[in-house]
Amino acid sequence: MSIRIAEHVRDIPRSGIRDFFEIVQTMDDVVSLGIGEPDFATPWHIREAAIYALERGRTGYTSNLGLPRLRRSIADYARKKFGLCYEPLSEVLVSVGVSEAIDLALRALLDPGDEVLYHEPCYVSYAPSIVLARGVARAIRTRAEDEFRLTAAALEDAITPRSRVLMLNFPTNPTGATMSPGDLAEIAEVCIRHDLVVMTDEIYSEIIFDDGAHTSIAGLPGMKERTIFLHGVSKAFAMTGWRIGFACAPAALVEAMMKIHQYAILCAPIMGQDAAIEALDRGEQSVEKMRREYEARRNFIVRALNDMGLACHKPKGSFYVFPNISSTGLTSREFSMRLLSEEKVAVVPGTAFGPSGEGHVRCSFATGLDQIKTAMERMAGFVARAK
Ligand SMILES: Cc1ncc(COP(=O)(O)O)c(C=O)c1O
Repeated sequence: MSIRIAEHVRDIPRSGIRDFFEIVQTMDDVVSLGIGEPDFATPWHIREAAIYALERGRTGYTSNLGLPRLRRSIADYARKKFGLCYEPLSEVLVSVGVSEAIDLALRALLDPGDEVLYHEPCYVSYAPSIVLARGVARAIRTRAEDEFRLTAAALEDAITPRSRVLMLNFPTNPTGATMSPGDLAEIAEVCIRHDLVVMTDEIYSEIIFDDGAHTSIAGLPGMKERTIFLHGVSKAFAMTGWRIGFACAPAALVEAMMKIHQYAILCAPIMGQDAAIEALDRGEQSVEKMRREYEARRNFIVRALNDMGLACHKPKGSFYVFPNISSTGLTSREFSMRLLSEEKVAVVPGTAFGPSGEGHVRCSFATGLDQIKTAMERMAGFVARAK
């Protein structure tokens, strides 16, 4: 018997990253710059808080929206860190990672055929999540010459009468792009004029370099009422496995997202929620320690890539660099496959993040400096041979 799979699910390609890493897993001694998660374990005080909560028998369901205590911590954190004001009990929802919050927001907002705009190269889940929510995914290409920022002109050009939502992700996975307050103000003006809802995934916003500051578009005039602010503990706090994210948005939207979350998930795991309270309330120093380490690694890897002849802008945030490999004459997939088989270094082909990633590869520096140094030596040899 052949089971019929729903058409819109069947037609979605598997993640290019996953396919690639299935090959990596069959090999020994690979130095991997492929993984998009911190190489640090969750800071001890956060693990300890979670262990203590477990010891006290905190093992049940929570409110659908998440523990009220956690929602207060989220609202305080959003105010202190980003200057955003949300009412903790009606404008905050705790989700199973930002991943679930993205799905909830799209499902709550879209009617079939509504268009969602997003800048590309982008995180692998955006286009599939839009399609699964029965929307139409419309990529806006960003360019290395603009350091992969989204320009107001490119956004304006992409808007059609069916456009409803704009998804933003700054700092960006995979390019490390960031936006200045002025860049964001221009984007906000276009969104207000065209009545777009903005979903802003700011999961890398603590990992900012060169003493820079992060600005959230949700805090710009006229934006709070049309913006869903998405964030979580996975990246900054090295807590990917705890699966805690959150969405802050106008109460009516939170209520709509909550209905989907309530029936599909019920609630995010209480262990992760207890750990997230400790992270948000007292994790600042741990985050700063990791951020400084990422910055030293970024400085090294950007120099090494440019020295070997692969043009690479210096990202002001995230833990990714996105060098241009077109001088080797290889496609991003050929480059990644050959680098893996000839030098045992794993990087992700830029096309895993959408067609506009062609000519680039993503290297994550969420890996120890020694590993990064070995990877760069091997890669320099490979590039010299390939050119
Ligand atoms: C831009 C972006 N958003 C969301 C996620 C998923 O985050 P979470 O672990 O909170 O589901 C990732 C993970 O790589 C990401 O890069």
